[in-house]
Amino acid sequence: MTKPIIPWPGGKRRLVAPIISTFPEHRTYVEPFCGAAAIFLAKPPARVEVLNDFNGELTNLYRVIKHHPNELATQFRWALNSRRMFEWAQATPTEILTDIQRAARFFYLQKLAFGGKVTSQTFGYAPSSPPRLNLMRLEEDISELHLRLATVYIEDGCWQKCVARYDRPETLFFCDPPYWETAGYGTPFPWEQYIALEVFMRESQGTVITTLNDHPAIRELFAGYDLAPIDIQYTAAGGHKAKPAKELIIRKKMPSQSKRKTVSK
Ligand SMILES: C[S@@+](CC[C@H](N)C(=O)[O-])C[C@H]1O[C@@H](n2cnc3c(N)ncnc32)[C@H](O)[C@@H]1O
Repeated sequence: MTKPIIPWPGGKRRLVAPIISTFPEHRTYVEPFCGAAAIFLAKPPARVEVLNDFNGELTNLYRVIKHHPNELATQFRWALNSRRMFEWAQATPTEILTDIQRAARFFYLQKLAFGGKVTSQTFGYAPSSPPRLNLMRLEEDISELHLRLATVYIEDGCWQKCVARYDRPETLFFCDPPYWETAGYGTPFPWEQYIALEVFMRESQGTVITTLNDHPAIRELFAGYDLAPIDIQYTAAGGHKAKPAKELIIRKKMPSQSKRKTVSK
Protein backbone atom coordinates (compact mmCIF):
# COMPACT_ATOMS: atom_id res chain seq x y z
CA MET A 1 0.00 0.00 0.00
CA THR A 2 1.46 3.37 -1.08
CA LYS A 3 0.81 6.33 1.23
CA PRO A 4 -0.23 9.80 0.02
CA ILE A 5 2.88 11.82 -0.73
CA ILE A 6 1.45 15.06 0.67
CA PRO A 7 -1.03 15.98 3.41
CA TRP A 8 -4.34 17.15 1.96
CA PRO A 9 -7.45 18.63 3.60
CA GLY A 10 -10.27 16.11 3.58
CA GLY A 11 -7.81 13.29 2.77
CA LYS A 12 -9.39 9.87 3.30
CA ARG A 13 -6.47 7.99 4.86
CA ARG A 14 -8.40 7.15 8.01
CA LEU A 15 -11.44 5.92 6.05
CA VAL A 16 -9.66 3.51 3.74
CA ALA A 17 -11.21 0.31 5.13
CA PRO A 18 -14.91 1.35 5.28
CA ILE A 19 -14.75 2.99 1.85
CA ILE A 20 -12.90 0.23 0.00
CA SER A 21 -15.19 -2.41 1.52
CA THR A 22 -18.10 -0.86 -0.45
CA PHE A 23 -16.34 -1.15 -3.84
CA PRO A 24 -17.78 -3.65 -6.33
CA GLU A 25 -15.59 -5.41 -8.89
CA HIS A 26 -14.54 -3.02 -11.63
CA ARG A 27 -12.27 -2.80 -14.61
CA THR A 28 -11.80 0.97 -14.71
CA TYR A 29 -11.33 3.11 -11.58
CA VAL A 30 -11.74 6.90 -11.64
CA GLU A 31 -11.24 9.50 -8.90
CA PRO A 32 -12.61 12.78 -10.31
CA PHE A 33 -11.68 14.67 -7.08
CA CYS A 34 -8.43 12.87 -6.29
CA GLY A 35 -6.58 15.25 -3.90
CA ALA A 36 -3.84 13.17 -2.25
CA ALA A 37 -5.59 10.02 -3.58
CA ALA A 38 -5.56 8.07 -0.29
CA ILE A 39 -8.14 5.54 -1.49
CA PHE A 40 -6.58 5.01 -4.92
CA LEU A 41 -3.21 4.36 -3.28
CA ALA A 42 -4.64 1.91 -0.75
CA LYS A 43 -6.76 -0.25 -3.05
CA PRO A 44 -5.59 -2.99 -5.40
CA PRO A 45 -4.87 -1.57 -8.87
CA ALA A 46 -7.56 -1.76 -11.59
CA ARG A 47 -6.86 -2.40 -15.26
CA VAL A 48 -7.50 1.26 -16.19
CA GLU A 49 -7.03 4.04 -13.62
CA VAL A 50 -7.71 7.77 -13.78
CA LEU A 51 -6.89 10.57 -11.34
CA ASN A 52 -8.37 14.04 -11.84
CA ASP A 53 -8.39 17.22 -9.80
CA PHE A 54 -9.20 20.86 -10.41
CA ASN A 55 -5.97 21.93 -8.70
CA GLY A 56 -3.46 22.22 -11.55
CA GLU A 57 -0.44 22.44 -9.19
CA LEU A 58 -1.42 19.08 -7.69
CA THR A 59 -1.91 17.34 -11.04
CA ASN A 60 1.35 18.89 -12.29
CA LEU A 61 3.09 17.29 -9.29
CA TYR A 62 1.63 13.89 -10.25
CA ARG A 63 2.64 14.33 -13.90
CA VAL A 64 6.20 15.25 -12.90
CA ILE A 65 6.43 12.28 -10.50
CA LYS A 66 5.20 10.05 -13.31
CA HIS A 67 7.61 11.34 -15.98
CA HIS A 68 10.57 13.01 -14.19
CA PRO A 69 10.96 11.50 -10.69
CA ASN A 70 14.76 11.84 -10.56
CA GLU A 71 14.72 15.45 -11.73
CA LEU A 72 12.14 16.25 -9.05
CA ALA A 73 14.24 14.62 -6.31
CA THR A 74 17.30 16.59 -7.49
CA GLN A 75 15.45 19.85 -6.76
CA PHE A 76 15.71 19.01 -3.04
CA ARG A 77 19.46 18.36 -2.96
CA TRP A 78 20.14 21.58 -1.02
CA ALA A 79 16.74 21.93 0.62
CA LEU A 80 16.22 22.53 4.33
CA ASN A 81 13.16 22.50 6.53
CA SER A 82 13.41 26.24 6.89
CA ARG A 83 10.88 28.95 7.58
CA ARG A 84 12.87 31.34 5.36
CA MET A 85 12.96 28.89 2.43
CA PHE A 86 9.23 28.32 2.89
CA GLU A 87 8.61 32.06 2.59
CA TRP A 88 10.87 32.31 -0.48
CA ALA A 89 8.98 29.47 -2.13
CA GLN A 90 5.69 31.23 -1.34
CA ALA A 91 6.97 34.47 -2.85
CA THR A 92 8.17 32.82 -6.10
CA PRO A 93 5.75 33.43 -8.98
CA THR A 94 4.92 30.11 -10.66
CA GLU A 95 5.01 31.75 -14.14
CA ILE A 96 8.83 31.88 -14.06
CA LEU A 97 9.24 28.20 -13.13
CA THR A 98 9.51 25.06 -15.24
CA ASP A 99 6.97 22.29 -14.56
CA ILE A 100 9.58 20.41 -12.51
CA GLN A 101 10.40 23.50 -10.42
CA ARG A 102 6.68 24.20 -9.99
CA ALA A 103 6.13 20.65 -8.76
CA ALA A 104 9.03 20.99 -6.29
CA ARG A 105 7.70 24.30 -5.00
CA PHE A 106 4.17 22.95 -4.56
CA PHE A 107 5.42 19.77 -2.87
CA TYR A 108 7.69 21.72 -0.48
CA LEU A 109 4.94 24.17 0.52
CA GLN A 110 2.29 21.47 0.91
CA LYS A 111 4.56 19.26 3.02
CA LEU A 112 5.54 22.07 5.38
CA ALA A 113 2.30 24.09 5.55
CA PHE A 114 0.63 24.21 8.94
CA GLY A 115 -2.16 21.61 9.06
CA GLY A 116 -1.55 20.62 5.41
CA LYS A 117 -3.62 23.62 4.32
CA VAL A 118 -3.88 24.39 0.60
CA THR A 119 -4.81 28.06 0.96
CA SER A 120 -3.47 30.75 3.36
CA GLN A 121 -0.44 28.58 4.08
CA THR A 122 1.89 29.32 6.99
CA PHE A 123 5.05 27.47 8.04
CA GLY A 124 4.11 24.48 10.21
CA TYR A 125 6.19 23.68 13.27
CA ALA A 126 5.64 21.82 16.53
CA PRO A 127 7.78 21.61 19.66
CA SER A 128 6.90 17.92 19.96
CA SER A 129 7.33 16.50 16.44
CA PRO A 130 9.89 16.71 13.64
CA PRO A 131 9.09 18.45 10.32
CA ARG A 132 6.82 16.54 7.91
CA LEU A 133 9.33 16.77 5.09
CA ASN A 134 11.84 13.98 5.68
CA LEU A 135 14.58 14.76 3.18
CA MET A 136 16.21 11.37 3.82
CA ARG A 137 13.10 9.51 2.59
CA LEU A 138 12.26 11.79 -0.28
CA GLU A 139 13.73 9.76 -3.15
CA GLU A 140 12.10 6.60 -1.81
CA ASP A 141 8.67 8.27 -1.53
CA ILE A 142 8.88 9.78 -5.01
CA SER A 143 10.07 6.53 -6.52
CA GLU A 144 7.26 4.53 -4.88
CA LEU A 145 4.60 6.89 -6.22
CA HIS A 146 6.31 6.98 -9.62
CA LEU A 147 5.85 3.21 -9.92
CA ARG A 148 2.20 3.42 -8.88
CA LEU A 149 1.43 6.23 -11.35
CA ALA A 150 3.22 4.63 -14.28
CA THR A 151 0.03 3.40 -15.96
CA VAL A 152 -2.44 5.96 -14.62
CA TYR A 153 -4.19 8.62 -16.73
CA ILE A 154 -3.77 12.00 -15.05
CA GLU A 155 -6.41 14.54 -15.98
CA ASP A 156 -6.95 18.03 -14.69
CA GLY A 157 -10.00 20.21 -14.75
CA CYS A 158 -13.59 20.05 -13.67
CA TRP A 159 -14.94 16.67 -12.50
CA GLN A 160 -17.80 16.86 -15.01
CA LYS A 161 -15.47 16.71 -18.02
CA CYS A 162 -13.59 13.81 -16.46
CA VAL A 163 -16.63 11.66 -15.66
CA ALA A 164 -18.11 12.25 -19.13
CA ARG A 165 -14.92 10.84 -20.70
CA TYR A 166 -14.76 7.63 -18.69
CA ASP A 167 -18.40 6.71 -18.04
CA ARG A 168 -18.82 3.05 -19.04
CA PRO A 169 -20.71 0.15 -17.41
CA GLU A 170 -17.41 -1.31 -16.12
CA THR A 171 -16.25 1.96 -14.49
CA LEU A 172 -16.20 2.62 -10.75
CA PHE A 173 -16.14 6.32 -9.86
CA PHE A 174 -15.08 7.20 -6.33
CA CYS A 175 -16.25 10.80 -5.85
CA ASP A 176 -14.89 12.73 -2.87
CA PRO A 177 -15.86 16.35 -3.55
CA PRO A 178 -15.33 19.26 -1.15
CA TYR A 179 -17.63 19.08 1.87
CA TRP A 180 -20.77 21.16 1.64
CA GLU A 181 -20.31 24.48 3.48
CA THR A 182 -16.61 23.87 4.03
CA ALA A 183 -14.11 26.00 2.13
CA GLY A 184 -10.42 25.21 1.78
CA TYR A 185 -9.40 24.36 -1.77
CA GLY A 186 -9.25 27.86 -3.20
CA THR A 187 -12.07 27.31 -5.71
CA PRO A 188 -15.80 27.60 -5.09
CA PHE A 189 -17.91 24.46 -5.11
CA PRO A 190 -21.46 25.83 -5.04
CA TRP A 191 -24.69 23.93 -4.36
CA GLU A 192 -25.38 23.51 -8.12
CA GLN A 193 -22.35 21.20 -8.23
CA TYR A 194 -23.90 18.85 -5.67
CA ILE A 195 -27.12 18.85 -7.69
CA ALA A 196 -25.11 18.01 -10.83
CA LEU A 197 -23.36 15.22 -8.93
CA GLU A 198 -26.68 13.72 -7.89
CA VAL A 199 -27.85 13.80 -11.53
CA PHE A 200 -24.62 12.13 -12.62
CA MET A 201 -25.04 9.41 -9.98
CA ARG A 202 -28.60 8.78 -11.16
CA GLU A 203 -27.78 8.68 -14.87
CA SER A 204 -24.28 7.22 -15.06
CA GLN A 205 -23.61 3.92 -16.79
CA GLY A 206 -20.92 3.03 -14.28
CA THR A 207 -21.09 2.67 -10.49
CA VAL A 208 -20.64 5.86 -8.47
CA ILE A 209 -19.70 5.88 -4.79
CA THR A 210 -19.59 9.31 -3.19
CA THR A 211 -18.47 10.52 0.24
CA LEU A 212 -19.70 13.78 1.74
CA ASN A 213 -20.14 15.37 5.13
CA ASP A 214 -23.25 14.26 7.01
CA HIS A 215 -25.28 17.45 6.62
CA PRO A 216 -29.10 17.80 6.54
CA ALA A 217 -28.97 19.39 3.05
CA ILE A 218 -26.86 16.52 1.72
CA ARG A 219 -29.20 13.96 3.29
CA GLU A 220 -32.14 15.69 1.62
CA LEU A 221 -30.50 15.87 -1.82
CA PHE A 222 -29.50 12.19 -1.69
CA ALA A 223 -32.67 10.98 0.07
CA GLY A 224 -33.31 8.29 -2.56
CA TYR A 225 -29.85 6.73 -2.07
CA ASP A 226 -28.28 4.27 0.29
CA LEU A 227 -26.63 6.49 2.95
CA ALA A 228 -24.11 4.84 5.28
CA PRO A 229 -22.84 7.14 8.05
CA ILE A 230 -19.30 6.62 9.37
CA ASP A 231 -17.57 8.31 12.30
CA ILE A 232 -14.36 10.15 11.70
CA GLN A 233 -12.02 12.03 14.03
CA TYR A 234 -11.58 15.16 11.96
CA THR A 235 -8.22 16.74 12.79
CA ALA A 236 -8.07 20.47 12.30
CA ALA A 237 -4.88 22.37 11.52
CA GLY A 238 -1.81 21.13 13.36
CA GLY A 239 -3.27 17.84 14.48
CA HIS A 240 -4.11 18.99 18.02
CA LYS A 241 -7.83 19.55 17.81
CA ALA A 242 -9.41 16.24 16.85
CA LYS A 243 -13.18 16.66 16.73
CA PRO A 244 -15.68 13.92 16.01
CA ALA A 245 -17.59 14.29 12.75
CA LYS A 246 -19.77 12.12 10.55
CA GLU A 247 -19.28 11.31 6.92
CA LEU A 248 -21.76 9.67 4.55
CA ILE A 249 -20.95 7.00 1.99
CA ILE A 250 -23.58 7.50 -0.70
CA ARG A 251 -24.52 5.07 -3.45
CA LYS A 252 -27.51 3.99 -5.43
CA LYS A 253 -29.88 1.67 -3.63
CA MET A 254 -29.56 -1.98 -4.56
CA PRO A 255 -32.65 -3.20 -6.47
CA SER A 256 -33.80 -5.23 -3.43
CA GLN A 257 -33.62 -2.12 -1.18
CA SER A 258 -35.66 0.00 -3.62
CA LYS A 259 -38.22 -2.80 -3.78
CA ARG A 260 -38.45 -3.01 0.03
CA LYS A 261 -39.15 0.71 0.15
CA THR A 262 -41.91 0.46 -2.45
CA VAL A 263 -43.58 -2.41 -0.60
CA SER A 264 -43.60 -0.62 2.76
CA LYS A 265 -45.29 2.51 1.37
C1 LIG B 1 -12.15 16.12 -0.21
S1 LIG B 1 -10.85 16.53 -1.33
C2 LIG B 1 -10.37 14.96 -1.97
C3 LIG B 1 -9.51 14.23 -0.97
C4 LIG B 1 -8.94 12.92 -1.48
N1 LIG B 1 -9.97 11.90 -1.60
C5 LIG B 1 -7.81 12.43 -0.62
O1 LIG B 1 -7.84 11.29 -0.14
O2 LIG B 1 -6.86 13.20 -0.41
C6 LIG B 1 -11.74 17.30 -2.65
C7 LIG B 1 -10.89 17.63 -3.88
O3 LIG B 1 -11.75 18.15 -4.89
C8 LIG B 1 -11.00 19.07 -5.68
N2 LIG B 1 -11.96 19.91 -6.43
C9 LIG B 1 -12.63 21.02 -6.02
N3 LIG B 1 -13.47 21.46 -7.00
C10 LIG B 1 -13.34 20.59 -8.04
C11 LIG B 1 -13.93 20.49 -9.32
N4 LIG B 1 -14.86 21.36 -9.74
N5 LIG B 1 -13.54 19.47 -10.14
C12 LIG B 1 -12.59 18.58 -9.73
N6 LIG B 1 -11.99 18.63 -8.52
C13 LIG B 1 -12.35 19.62 -7.68
C14 LIG B 1 -10.13 19.81 -4.65
O4 LIG B 1 -9.00 20.40 -5.27
C15 LIG B 1 -9.79 18.67 -3.68
O5 LIG B 1 -8.55 18.10 -4.00
